[in-house]
Amino acid sequence: MIPPKPPSRPERVSLFRYLRLFRQDILSAQPAKLYRAWMAEFKTPFFRSYMVNDPKLVKTVLNERPMDFPKSDRIGEGLRPLLGDSVFLTNGAVWERQRRIIDPAFEGGRLREAFPAMWEAAEAAVDRMRNAGADPIDIEPETSHAAADVIFRTLFSIPIDHEIASEVFHEFRDYQRTQPLLNIAAFLPRFKWLPRGFKAETKSTARRIRALITRLTDERAAAIAAGTAPDDLATKIMTTADPETGERFDADEMVDQVAIFFLAGHETSASALAWTLYLLATHPEWQERLAGEAQVLDKMDFSVVSKLKLSRDVFRESLRLYPPVPMMVRETTCPEHFRDRDVKIGSQVVVSPWHLHRQERLWDNPDGFDPSRWATENGKQCQRDAYIPFSSGKRVCTGAGFAMIEGVLLLSMLLKHYRFDAVEGEVPVPVAHLTVRSKDGIWLRVTPRDNA
Ligand code: HEM
Repeated sequence: MIPPKPPSRPERVSLFRYLRLFRQDILSAQPAKLYRAWMAEFKTPFFRSYMVNDPKLVKTVLNERPMDFPKSDRIGEGLRPLLGDSVFLTNGAVWERQRRIIDPAFEGGRLREAFPAMWEAAEAAVDRMRNAGADPIDIEPETSHAAADVIFRTLFSIPIDHEIASEVFHEFRDYQRTQPLLNIAAFLPRFKWLPRGFKAETKSTARRIRALITRLTDERAAAIAAGTAPDDLATKIMTTADPETGERFDADEMVDQVAIFFLAGHETSASALAWTLYLLATHPEWQERLAGEAQVLDKMDFSVVSKLKLSRDVFRESLRLYPPVPMMVRETTCPEHFRDRDVKIGSQVVVSPWHLHRQERLWDNPDGFDPSRWATENGKQCQRDAYIPFSSGKRVCTGAGFAMIEGVLLLSMLLKHYRFDAVEGEVPVPVAHLTVRSKDGIWLRVTPRDNA
């Protein structure tokens, strides 16, 4: 069964409608020409905004001159009560220092050490799904649960059933409901005399989450001092000194970083896994191939990851079609000349994985699901030039390597044990919340393979 082709797309929309459409149906309601254009300009009475969809321009912004295009703080504004000065929101010297401390925790060798925790989380996800029953279930809460479990086990060596872990998980869900990432209000002009208010609910949820995380980091600081701390990601980050200044994160800064690891690390992976399962449910021939490959998962051993090649191709294709972070917003700090246009200081530059991954002038069969594309010339070329699910350059996702192991492992483990079938009439509509989610869930029928 082939997923329904996107309905015909409108030709023109305004910036405000474009932003609203991200919150409605980002697959079909956006103008068709955005998927062909190398660049689009949105004019508002207050500022200009440019979507860049030309690999050369994307490279300029992300790879060649990233420091000239800092993150726009308009977009991150909604997350600040929760994330404080986390690495996701900072810029310049503060951001560089934070990355110097964080990056060593995500190096290849550390990922090998995190693997047993990922494996245990994958087994726990398989166990939980035994309760699915014969009726279709919404798969998104399942994948969120599994991805949150991975984060807590790898970061703090605790499973999601741990009292604090489970409370953080549930509070985050509430936060997300009150505070979308794509805060349309953030695109309105700022008047200095008019404070940008957050909903009281947003602030109090953020306070509760930060208090819970503080308990975890305080306990960990005490264990490090006592020499009893487990050797996990939290210990690594809390004990790493900046090679340039010798400083470590102070207590508050560590809470900021844990909040972003949890948020960036579980929301994104959950979204990716849910869409991948949907794509496999609608492409049963691929699903059966992956289930066959998954038989290699007989014992916990890091080397097994390199054997899950089909699973990796499928996961990669799913990240292309449904990139969990659909767009990234930067700001110009000097006058630019993009293609034939002058771009003023203070303009917004939108880099959109969503559009670049479906850019009609670059990709063969841009809207189609074809995991074998990565072996073709076009697929290889596009992977180099037009594929940025984890962003690219200096500010690339810290957890990219982590996510590719986690996603491929969880996917294969679930497919080894279950078959996922699409439900007639239940076609998920992608909308941008914190990440790309489905408007009304992703409903699939889950059947244990031993009973199938
Ligand atoms: C499929 C899973 C994931 C996807 C698609 C993804 C995607 C991204 C993207 C696109 C960005 C850049 C955002 C921007 O520049 O505006 C980013 C940043 C980030 N991600 Fe991920 N991510 C994933 C998983 C993870 C995981 C598992 C972790 C940590 C455990 C993580 C931690 C971070 C952090 C800390 C940043 C901020 C980096 C910086 O600004 O320097 N991500 N991610």
